[in-house]
Amino acid sequence: MHKDCERIMLTEEQLRARVKEVALQVDEIYKDKRPLVVGILKGSIIFYSDFIRFLTMPVELDFMAVSSYGSGAVSSGKLNIKKDLDRDVAGRDVIIVEDIIDSGFTLANLKALLTERGAASVMIVTLLNKKDRREYDIAPDYNCFDIENEFVVGYGLDYNEQYRSLPYIGILKRSVYEK
Ligand code: PRP
Repeated sequence: MHKDCERIMLTEEQLRARVKEVALQVDEIYKDKRPLVVGILKGSIIFYSDFIRFLTMPVELDFMAVSSYGSGAVSSGKLNIKKDLDRDVAGRDVIIVEDIIDSGFTLANLKALLTERGAASVMIVTLLNKKDRREYDIAPDYNCFDIENEFVVGYGLDYNEQYRSLPYIGILKRSVYEK
């Protein structure tokens, strides 16, 4: 385990098993469709790449980069689109793949934006859900794990752009982000 982690919350095995389970449920729903799978950079990259490999229908991939957090641990309350989609979503079935839903600000705004652009449907798939932190009226359609309000890193998630490549989800030591 990385020295900056207090403990491992979700192992590689737990992640693989649950991501597969959720992906197969989503696969069943879209089997006769051709959805646009939108990954929200950067936190979702590892979850996204594992998730799409369990899908059997033809998918198209696209990405957005938005920011809601600064470099710290607290949501800033302003959604900033840093990279927009390459594809037009009008008439498309869209699956948003996100690493974590916290206050819900990012996903509430993204869903509203893609709906406004004419998406035929917008499904939200998340890896982690911090239910107790919700401030906006939005819930994932599919979520892999409900978690407590811990500072988690790894499997795509960062603190100050570090730890994204850890293959597990770890809880960051308080001393790392409080110094
Ligand atoms: C994280 C995460 C979500 C958002 C969740 O992104 O990936 O997009 O924050 O918080 P919310 O529900 O309160 O809006 P972050 O801005 O840390 O960027 P990253 O994915 O590049 O790490």
